[in-house]
Amino acid sequence: MRKHIVAGNWKMNNNLSKTENLLNELKKQTKSSDAEVMVAPTFVNLSHAFKTLKQTDIEAVAQNMHFAENGAYTGEISADMLKSIGINTVILGHSERRAYYNETDASLAKKIDAALANNMRSIFCFGEELADRKSGNQETIVASQIKNALFHLKADAFTNIVLAYEPVWAIGTGETASPEQAQEMHAFIRQLLSDKYGDAVANSVSILYGGSVKPNNAREIFSKPDVDGGLIGGASLKAEDFYAIVNAF
Ligand code: G3P
Repeated sequence: MRKHIVAGNWKMNNNLSKTENLLNELKKQTKSSDAEVMVAPTFVNLSHAFKTLKQTDIEAVAQNMHFAENGAYTGEISADMLKSIGINTVILGHSERRAYYNETDASLAKKIDAALANNMRSIFCFGEELADRKSGNQETIVASQIKNALFHLKADAFTNIVLAYEPVWAIGTGETASPEQAQEMHAFIRQLLSDKYGDAVANSVSILYGGSVKPNNAREIFSKPDVDGGLIGGASLKAEDFYAIVNAF
């Protein structure tokens, strides 16, 4: 059974006091859906977030991690370090990391492997650029990103993988993919999984949509049969807006 998941990617927002304030506001919200709820603060606030959320049904997750166990990687964070502060889920391959920090399919495959080796769950992000969409190449691009980073895995690995389709042209732009566009791509992605691993795996993997999800569009997007939730950026920074999305199932 696929899980409904709503994860808030805070990106590079909120110092410690603003993190504390937002976490306290989130704890006051009421969840009226069956969605699993996650929030991804920055690394400096992640341990505090884990401790603050420990007695709640909100999971603190990481925005990234390195594939190496340790070593000369200044500024990086390992899976072991995340596990040591209680973090068991990590966002990998976000388009901003692909664009600004030279994330490649090969490095992401290593990061997925490192997360699995540490029994961590990955939220693997992918999606086409505007030029790809305009030229009708979205399926080719997305298929390549998924195959290059994930299709070396065995079927059982997918119990620890959540997919997040984030069309780059919809991220932070206010230009959301239409519910029909989201459904079309999610169905394509699920068929990719089915062709490779069979229907059982394809129907067990949660596929999230990300890209300008807001309280006023979440319900229609989440109503689509192959959309299992959302990866939320801007709207996750306000507790009421974020829970309006969490409860939009
Ligand atoms: O990771 C989610 C993020 O990329 C979406 O951002 O602000 O368009 O919801 P936003």
